[in-house]
Amino acid sequence: MIVAIDGPAASGKGTIAKRIASHYGLRHLDTGALYRAVARDTLAAGGDLSDPKAAAAAAAWLDAATFADPALRSAKMGEAASVVARYPEVRAVLLTYQRNFAWTKPGAVIDGRDIGTVICPDADVKLFVTATPEERAHRRFLELVASAPAGTVQEADVLADIKDRDHRDETRPTAPLRQAEDAALLDTTNLDIDAAFKAAIDLIEAAMGNAGRAG
Ligand code: CDP
Repeated sequence: MIVAIDGPAASGKGTIAKRIASHYGLRHLDTGALYRAVARDTLAAGGDLSDPKAAAAAAAWLDAATFADPALRSAKMGEAASVVARYPEVRAVLLTYQRNFAWTKPGAVIDGRDIGTVICPDADVKLFVTATPEERAHRRFLELVASAPAGTVQEADVLADIKDRDHRDETRPTAPLRQAEDAALLDTTNLDIDAAFKAAIDLIEAAMGNAGRAG
């Protein structure tokens, strides 16, 4: 079973994906961490983010053991990830890793921007998780203030960053962020994480032809 979950920044897709994976006993891959790690490794090697060759070299040498590095979660790394994610060379290198992950038993829940459209177009279920930019900025602001010195993060700046990143992800020529035609839409603007998870399970069960509900 392969579940593809796409959506913009801070839509809740990562948390929902993790819970779906544990509910069905599947493996989970946060593909955003791959692009964040490519950006981190490009900079660490003294490379320039505007150089596709430097970013593709970093992608070729990625170490999966570093994907949980907390440094990847910073706002700066999110921005840098969306810069290297524009390069077809980088996306081509990461495609193989993602498909191999998807096609390893017992299957996987994979979240990102192009999973339903490019990486796993034949996924059993596809969800597109979204929320208004303001709600997503508010969630990301709460996450960032939890680990930043007081007064250093402004919600208006987070909203501006989210809008910039959405624009970059939606307008790039290679694998832009968009809802696959056969993906179910889940708008989490007015849902807390438990309600969003239940709604996701209902959509999955409906897509699989079952009538079950999340417990
Ligand atoms: O956690 P958040 O939603 O803020 O971002 P992320 O999922 O970690 O992704 C960071 C950036 O990586 C995105 O803004 C995209 O530019 C890029 N990305 C992508 O192009 N394709 C994916 N499958 C996943 C992420």
